[in-house]
Amino acid sequence: MIQIAPSILSADFARLGEEIHAVEAAGADLIHVDVMDGHFVPNLTIGPLVVEAIARVATKPLDVHLMIAPVEVYIPAFVKAGARILTIHAESTIHLDRALNLVRESGCQVGLALNPATPLCNLSSVLHLLDVVVVMSVNPGFGGQSFIPHALHRIKSIRRMITERGLNVSIEVDGGIKPDNIAEAAKAGADIFVAGSAVFSQPDYGAVIRTLRANASA
Ligand code: DX5
Ligand code: ZN
Repeated sequence: MIQIAPSILSADFARLGEEIHAVEAAGADLIHVDVMDGHFVPNLTIGPLVVEAIARVATKPLDVHLMIAPVEVYIPAFVKAGARILTIHAESTIHLDRALNLVRESGCQVGLALNPATPLCNLSSVLHLLDVVVVMSVNPGFGGQSFIPHALHRIKSIRRMITERGLNVSIEVDGGIKPDNIAEAAKAGADIFVAGSAVFSQPDYGAVIRTLRANASA
């Protein structure tokens, strides 16, 4: 099933509640929340307190993308704040198996993100622990960057790995997704699509989400 996950990183933070209601009314399936620490990535965004506030107004599941290191110590706080899918980065911990199990035991769906140059062999020992693999199609840290085309090869390889093992894991693509490249990402095997600037830069969120969904389904 195709799912569109607007990233609130490009929303108007002064009107965050309204922006979330607007994308939900416009057809968003998930609300993608980018958490950045100024250390793992060169930008700072929000913490558990704001995620908790978002959870109070959102009716769609929160897809929380942690770009922080260390990550393990903050997992419980983001679970408690209301994450439905909690994604951590493979590069953010040397105890990946432990961190993923911690997310699983907390009751959240488990996401694992890989930066654009991280070898896919990082997945082989943990793929069975995951609900979602997040393929970064930009170097994380900022909204509005261009899609890195090599991500398409990575999505294809991961889809093959999932199918070969008979697993039920979603592939989420994050970064630079627009109406004109979403079809390629869908064809490669992605089924969850993060879109930040593509949605929030448009006056009509409903129109752009409909176009993204239609192009991904074509
Ligand atoms: C990048 C973030 C993305 C970003 C996507 O570090 O993880 O979720 O907000 O924004 P766009 O769609 O504008 O590339
Ligand atoms: Zn993200």
